Amino acid sequence: MSPVATMDATRSNAVRLAAARLMERCGTLAKITERPGEILRTFLSPSMDKVHRAMRPWMEAAGMRVAVDRAGNLRGLCGDPRGPRLLIGSHLDTVPNAGAYDGVLGVLMGLALVETTRDQGCPFALEVLGFSDEEGTRFGAPFLGSRAVVSELDQSLLDCRDESGISVDEALQGFATRRGEVVEERLSEKSVAYLEFHIEQGPVLESRNLALGIVEGLAGQTRCSVEFRGVSGHAGTTPMKLRRDALAGAAEWIVAVETVTRRFDGAVATVGQIAAEPGGVNVVPGVARCSLDVRHADDAVRAGLVRALFAEADAVAQKRGLRSMAAQYHEQAAVRFDAKLVSVAERAASRAGYSTIRMTGGAGHDAMVIAPHVPAAMVFLRNPGGISHHPDESVAEDDVAAAIHTGLCFLEELAADLQGKGD
Ligand code: GLV
Ligand code: MN
Ligand code: MN
Repeated sequence: MSPVATMDATRSNAVRLAAARLMERCGTLAKITERPGEILRTFLSPSMDKVHRAMRPWMEAAGMRVAVDRAGNLRGLCGDPRGPRLLIGSHLDTVPNAGAYDGVLGVLMGLALVETTRDQGCPFALEVLGFSDEEGTRFGAPFLGSRAVVSELDQSLLDCRDESGISVDEALQGFATRRGEVVEERLSEKSVAYLEFHIEQGPVLESRNLALGIVEGLAGQTRCSVEFRGVSGHAGTTPMKLRRDALAGAAEWIVAVETVTRRFDGAVATVGQIAAEPGGVNVVPGVARCSLDVRHADDAVRAGLVRALFAEADAVAQKRGLRSMAAQYHEQAAVRFDAKLVSVAERAASRAGYSTIRMTGGAGHDAMVIAPHVPAAMVFLRNPGGISHHPDESVAEDDVAAAIHTGLCFLEELAADLQGKGD
């Protein structure tokens, strides 16, 4: 018998219905995109407005007061706005050519829990947050939505520019004017906890035959730009020996990024973007610009790897008569989640009938921005094949049911904990 089947029949039915509805909603939201043929939704874009319009009636029907804040985050509140509140959230933006579940699932989990507990009364308010940016697809810098709610959108982030030269600051002002009815973004001081459900985006739970994992912490991350400058020239007349080809230098460095990173146990580094100038088929490239994303659970190891990769860029440039310039524009420290809340999540899963393991996540999540301000925890859902940031990303409806059942037990456990504190 599956754990869901061991619940009382009413709850079991409600959980199954909620899981089916959540899957259907992920399918509906996956059709909202700014690039036909693939899923793409970016910070403050018209496609994000459409997602808000799709979600608002679902949230209102669940009894929530719904608003969009100045940073473009969708917010829904159920319960007493002056009392303690549990935040449940994740993000509504995507990477290019995304899957249907990364982020969206966590927001819809919040809504599912509000719908499923509606008539039961909760000793705290539930606030569902659909963050406007976690991926950093539009501006390179991630977590713009969650940073805004904890007052961490500093000037260097506000100055980041998108491909059309618009800064974050200008985009926010334009958004506020366009939408008109935006509200204050800062989290309520009565926020007692933050919970985020997310697909694992890796193969571990599947390999252990487990539906759910309890996340103890997340790896830190650094994002950088690395530029090589040489001399552009005629592709037909510049002899190979006399070239100072910036793109060839970047290529050599990218291969070195793989080799050097393998020496740092547990580290990952990715060059995901490259652009060459002037970009002619018959012109030796004079400039090559690369992105660099580096992650490790230990911040000191990550910092050491970033230094080593920058040094490697200098070495390649020197050998080839190029100049290299490396700059770090985003850093997010590794986080350990709140030990008590992690235990609450673990107890909740166990009470719902699921064995879990504790894990450290390698991806970035809004929870890592919220965690220094509000006790936070995360629950991962098994992700078939570990495929994510890819259109084949998936999750099983049964595992969503497991997450919803665990979420319901989490609310009960948290209520008991808070009541215990009040006694
Ligand atoms: C977002 O998913 C990231 O880890 O970059
Ligand atoms: Mn993602
Ligand atoms: Mn995500």
